[in-house]
Amino acid sequence: MQPGDIESVLRENRSFAPAASFLAGARLQPADIEKLRQRAAADHTGFWAEQARTQLQWHKPFTVILDESTAPNYRWFPDGQLNVSLNCLDVHLASRGDAPAILFEGEPGDRRRLTYRELHAAVCRLANALRSLGINAGDRVVIYLPMVPEAVIAMQACARIGAVHSVVFGGFSAGSLRDRIEDAGARLVITADGGHRGGHVIELKAAVDKALEGACATIENVLVLQRAKNAVSMRAGRDLWWHEVVDRQSALCDPAWVDAEHPLFLLYTSGSTGKPKGIQHSSAGYLLGAKLTSQWVFDLQPSDVFWCTADVGWVTGHSYVAYGPLAAGATLVMYEGAPTIPDAGRFWRICETHGVTVFYTAPTAIRALMKLGDEIPARYDLSKLRLLGTVGEPINPEAWIWYHRVIGGERCPIVDTWWQTETGAIMISPLPSAVATKPGSCTLPLPGIDAAIVDDAGNAVSSPEAGGYLVIRKPWPSMLRTIWGDNERYLATYWEKFQNRYYVAGDSAHRDADGYFWIMGRIDDVLKVSGHRLGTMEIESALVAHPRVAEAAVVGKPHDIKGESVFAYVVCRGARPTGDTRAFVDELRNWVSEQLGAIAKPDDIRFADNLPKTRSGKIMRRLLRAIARGEPITQDISTLENPAIVDQLRGVDAGAHS
Ligand code: WTA
Repeated sequence: MQPGDIESVLRENRSFAPAASFLAGARLQPADIEKLRQRAAADHTGFWAEQARTQLQWHKPFTVILDESTAPNYRWFPDGQLNVSLNCLDVHLASRGDAPAILFEGEPGDRRRLTYRELHAAVCRLANALRSLGINAGDRVVIYLPMVPEAVIAMQACARIGAVHSVVFGGFSAGSLRDRIEDAGARLVITADGGHRGGHVIELKAAVDKALEGACATIENVLVLQRAKNAVSMRAGRDLWWHEVVDRQSALCDPAWVDAEHPLFLLYTSGSTGKPKGIQHSSAGYLLGAKLTSQWVFDLQPSDVFWCTADVGWVTGHSYVAYGPLAAGATLVMYEGAPTIPDAGRFWRICETHGVTVFYTAPTAIRALMKLGDEIPARYDLSKLRLLGTVGEPINPEAWIWYHRVIGGERCPIVDTWWQTETGAIMISPLPSAVATKPGSCTLPLPGIDAAIVDDAGNAVSSPEAGGYLVIRKPWPSMLRTIWGDNERYLATYWEKFQNRYYVAGDSAHRDADGYFWIMGRIDDVLKVSGHRLGTMEIESALVAHPRVAEAAVVGKPHDIKGESVFAYVVCRGARPTGDTRAFVDELRNWVSEQLGAIAKPDDIRFADNLPKTRSGKIMRRLLRAIARGEPITQDISTLENPAIVDQLRGVDAGAHS
């Protein structure tokens, strides 16, 4: 990025007030929002208690709002009991039993429609099947499925019996799946023969077989959904077909009453060091966050058709596919495949066919579709859309304006929602009827969320535009509870920096003169590739696992569509590869893809004799980032043992190749 670009980003001061047409039908009017804000500011825990009492159905009402005795392992509503699946499904049966809950479209074009009553029955059948397989409350179940209704059914069925699900994104490889199964100590994997993606069949069952080979001793059964009808091998005694086990079960299943703090799910995500960590969420607090934000931010009403394009393998697919919209009683669209199959109009055709009113996607998808031109969306009737959202990475003003103009017809507010796997629900976002938007800013914290920007000493940054650490200063119900099996890491990652006072998000941000938040990016070594979170360490470990690789360093490089791409510097055992290294580069790229999944595949690989390190032996990542970006080198490189290395890293000596 040139200094000129930074200037223009900072000077982005176009502002868009909520359109009158939106305001007229909005669930929350500006005065309601003002009341919420005032109430939350006056009595933080009292505010959340009122929300929890009115929004959730409790089996046993809570009397304690927030237990801080083990802070920063906070416990919300700890003596209350409820069931999450009951709160998403049963509560709608009387009033909306025949209303559609899920409108599904497979990549090959097949369609299914499930009403709330049908979804409820499907969830109960699977819940009964899980119980018949000996799965009890607290047991971990890994879900490795394509984006089909059964993914939501599986999550809800776990919730119904109090089992803890851990969804693994179908794009992750067998190795990543194995790590997650082992860390969670799961008893069951729910998978499919295969799923459709990008015109291919993704062989999920085969990946499960590979993951379990000589590993994952805790797994007793694998439940296999027939989806793509590709050939699979079934291991007698272990593997069971979904249709054989589930279809004969009763369509009624008593929900298990669990404590508010009972873990609802684990979701593995990347940090700056070590293996992915199992972020542990609670039942009541999490559901409250997912439901409220679905109503506040997406304004979901019974007449809405909501399409969040995220896969259930990511937190967005948990909060805004599997839980929030259902708790809010909305209709959701699920699509199995890629946005470009059979052509680049697929997303917009789905919006037209299903009458999507609220659409939520990632900046990477918006940029990719924007590149294809305005003519494609122009072919479809997008007039039902009334609200648009984005998530996962900063959106550049150009993409924002395109989204606003071409997709939103200049009438739909855009909610740029900042949040994380750890926060469980949206934290900073416009409330679309009340907050004027600015392209590139996630605007203001939601009621009950005390977000701030602080300096190294933890003091609030006072001058507008000054950057700092994004922190949350008060606990909130949907926050993560711990890292599964590693509370020390929970404390060290999120709390140590400011002596347990503030939750440290790991992002840097600044506020403008109107108090609007602008996210600047990660301050750690986490990459965001196509909105997916990847740890540099994970990719480095994958590279180093290759027999010819001695050392590796991975950095992010800005990418037009993906936001960031993976750039790897590799030191080989023995001599540095020179000449035509293309075949070896491909081998390494595929190696990473096999180890972790295709999303982690490096775009660039560059070889060097060694890596630039500080005197204390730390890899000079800033230098590597500057080189990857082709920026001038401003770091002091006089201490490098081998200054010629810089030319190798820049790829300007004879042997380098990228
Ligand atoms: C980034 C995704 C800018 C941020 C829900 C955060 C964003 C990380 C935004 C969490 C946004 C998310 N603007 N950056 N609106 N939303 N991020 O856990 O760096 O996959 O820390 O959760 O994504 O990624 P995660």
